[in-house]
Amino acid sequence: MERGNFGSKIGAVLASAGSAVGLGNIWRFPTECGSNGGAAFILIYLLCILLLAMPVMIAEFVIGRASRSNTVGSYRVLAPGKPWVVSGFLGVLAGFLVLSYYSVVAGWTLDYTFESLTGGLMTSDNFGTMFNDFVSSPWRPVIFLSVFLLLTHIVVAAGIEKGIERCSKIMMPMLLLIIFILMGFSLNMPNAAEGIRFMLKPDFSKVTKDVVLSAMGQAFFTLSVGMGTLATYASYFKKETKLIPSALGVCTIDTIVAISAGFIIFPAVFSVGVSANSGPGLVFITLPYVFQKAFGDLPVLEYIFSGLFYILLLLAALTSSISMHEISTAYIHETFKLTRQKAATIVTIVCLLLGIVCSLSFGIWKHITVAGMGFFDLFDFITAKFLMPLGGLLICTFVGWDMNKKMVANELNSRFTPLLMLLFSWVAPIGIGIIFVYGLISK
Ligand code: PFF
Repeated sequence: MERGNFGSKIGAVLASAGSAVGLGNIWRFPTECGSNGGAAFILIYLLCILLLAMPVMIAEFVIGRASRSNTVGSYRVLAPGKPWVVSGFLGVLAGFLVLSYYSVVAGWTLDYTFESLTGGLMTSDNFGTMFNDFVSSPWRPVIFLSVFLLLTHIVVAAGIEKGIERCSKIMMPMLLLIIFILMGFSLNMPNAAEGIRFMLKPDFSKVTKDVVLSAMGQAFFTLSVGMGTLATYASYFKKETKLIPSALGVCTIDTIVAISAGFIIFPAVFSVGVSANSGPGLVFITLPYVFQKAFGDLPVLEYIFSGLFYILLLLAALTSSISMHEISTAYIHETFKLTRQKAATIVTIVCLLLGIVCSLSFGIWKHITVAGMGFFDLFDFITAKFLMPLGGLLICTFVGWDMNKKMVANELNSRFTPLLMLLFSWVAPIGIGIIFVYGLISK
């Protein structure tokens, strides 16, 4: 079967960075940072990125490019007959689950983009009620969820170069431009310094074992590692694409975007004097209020700021959802020899059904819980706290211990190979293992 390829190195890096930069950076990072000790959290998070998540990213790149296959097929090529293939199946499962609940939040984002562009956000006077009414309604979020999944579907069905690469090359520069414009606005607001201080002041008294677990979960989630997403993308990399510099580029872009998102949100929040610790509601309840308060007498600015912010969030969500969709699409397309369009349709329909279940868990199905969690929280828990770290552990261990050493060295093609082998074989598996086991027993 003819396989697609990213046409250029920059396209490959932008697509991978597109996968990494998402709701995790703009929505999740500032909230986690705000409630887990500011700069102290950032410090632990950066260590997790460097020592645990980035090695998993490079290991995924090695597996993908060496095998030129989807995440299940890659283990069949590289380790035929061995049980590593389970790691591939876990990745496909995680891909379905993450895309389903991620699309629910992305659907909310689409609704807020629509509301901000049509002026609906400017006229509301109670954003808490507006948000709660919206997410608990049985129809509206489902409609936006469906539209979002349809957009993702169209890009994936169009193929690697014409769909994913082309889209990333347009959307990622737009996203970076919007980030810098918004940061310029925010840092110039009255009291901005207080917001910056809040984010950068290390409060080590808040650092508990749970914070370390959250930092690792955030590092894995934000870099999209542990599910074979980046292995799938790397299977479309050209031979000349250098894996280590590409991984460094992706991690740098991702970290810059996460920290910039903090520099957009906290100065704005502090300038109008509301509490920054408002959890996931921060982006959909606190921020619209902040935009309204901050630019109350200049409605044009409120319109531009909030419009740009939700477009930013939407672009970020879309480039990430495409990559999650591609894990399962590539697997079904190559394993069952269906056309890419048919495979993509199956993935879209399954995720739509699961997404509807997650969406309804905020409203009419609120009372249905498993282990005390609604479906949305359950999917988030299973993937971010369980499947992704477990996947990361297996991926590193495979490359560090079982994959053909010459092949690994060939793919890495760098003088840092011995250092990376140390990270793959010892540092990352032990680090992830300790935090992972602790996370399970402390639950
Ligand atoms: N990295 C994405 C974000 O930060 O929003 C989320 C994500 C994308 C997780 C792709 C997993 C994945 F495979």
